[in-house]
Amino acid sequence: MTIILGLESSCDETAAALVSADGQILAHRLATQEEVHRPYGGVVPEIAARAHVEALSPLIEAALADAKMSLNDVDVIAATAGPGLIGGVMVGLVTGKALAHAAGKPLVAVNHLEGHALSPRLADRTLQFPYLLLLVSGGHCQLLKVKGPGDYARLATTIDDAAGEAFDKTAKLLGLGYPGGPLVEKAAAGGNPNAVPLPRPLVGTAEPHFSFAGLKSAVMRAVQSGHYATEDIAASFQQAVIDCLVDRTRRALGGSASVTALVVAGGVAANQPIRTALERLAADHDLPFVAPPLWLCTDNAAMIAWAGAERYAAGLVDDLSVPARPRWPL
Ligand code: KG4
Ligand code: ZN
Repeated sequence: MTIILGLESSCDETAAALVSADGQILAHRLATQEEVHRPYGGVVPEIAARAHVEALSPLIEAALADAKMSLNDVDVIAATAGPGLIGGVMVGLVTGKALAHAAGKPLVAVNHLEGHALSPRLADRTLQFPYLLLLVSGGHCQLLKVKGPGDYARLATTIDDAAGEAFDKTAKLLGLGYPGGPLVEKAAAGGNPNAVPLPRPLVGTAEPHFSFAGLKSAVMRAVQSGHYATEDIAASFQQAVIDCLVDRTRRALGGSASVTALVVAGGVAANQPIRTALERLAADHDLPFVAPPLWLCTDNAAMIAWAGAERYAAGLVDDLSVPARPRWPL
């Protein structure tokens, strides 16, 4: 059985994981830099890169120890090669290259977005291509028809902010702290989603895309007005995001996309009310709904190892000269 070592270091999580080609997660280790960046209210790229350097090698050793393996037992090295903060991406990719070179193993350079996009097939081995994927993370908000490894049709993207970015900015405006998504979800649970009138940008329009900048500005005005409780703003904001995501996804499902399932992935997919709303939408269309477990939605190395497994099985390996790419659309 082919064993893949995956490395992730594109943002503020350092991670190493071992996955087998039949989808068993043999080990997964992760070190989050949340505490390091919290005083700054966001990720500081230079600090992140240094923290990845310190954390990565011990995580790889720990993952190998968890699986009772040595580097000799690994068949393929998969590392995130972008998109992301370039200093961090370089740490993981160069480490992957060095291991591949030293051990004489093939290297697979993984697009971080492809890691998210294929992670639902690691969570549910029955999920078949093509599926409709709502990819919602800190940097991206896209609808993709996933046809196979390296084979994607982008049906929609955001014309301004990503959904996770909107959560993070709202958390900042509300003084909830960092990282924002889970804190807004928690605050929203105690609030009234109809308390604050907020816009639903692009909802109901014929064009396929997302937009969240207007929503963010409206949240700012609501905060500044002093009229509303934090919980009510959080709940109303979250409901507006749900309405946008559901409307745009419904539009994509109604189009030409003949798909096996509706799938959600990326950090924002960890949000329970968002999962529930999308599950209902899938049921309306008689489609299975697949969402990876929460830990597999946010950044991790198991999804990178798995994307490496899928690409390797498809004959997609990379040369050691492959570059780190800060921008890299799927
Ligand atoms: O995929 P991810 O871990 O990193 C990127 O590739 O961007 O996504 C991180 C994003 C952040 O914006 C974070 O606030 C958001 O996902 N997020 C959430 C939740 N958990 C994480 N947003 C809403 N609700 C959550 N529970
Ligand atoms: Zn991510």
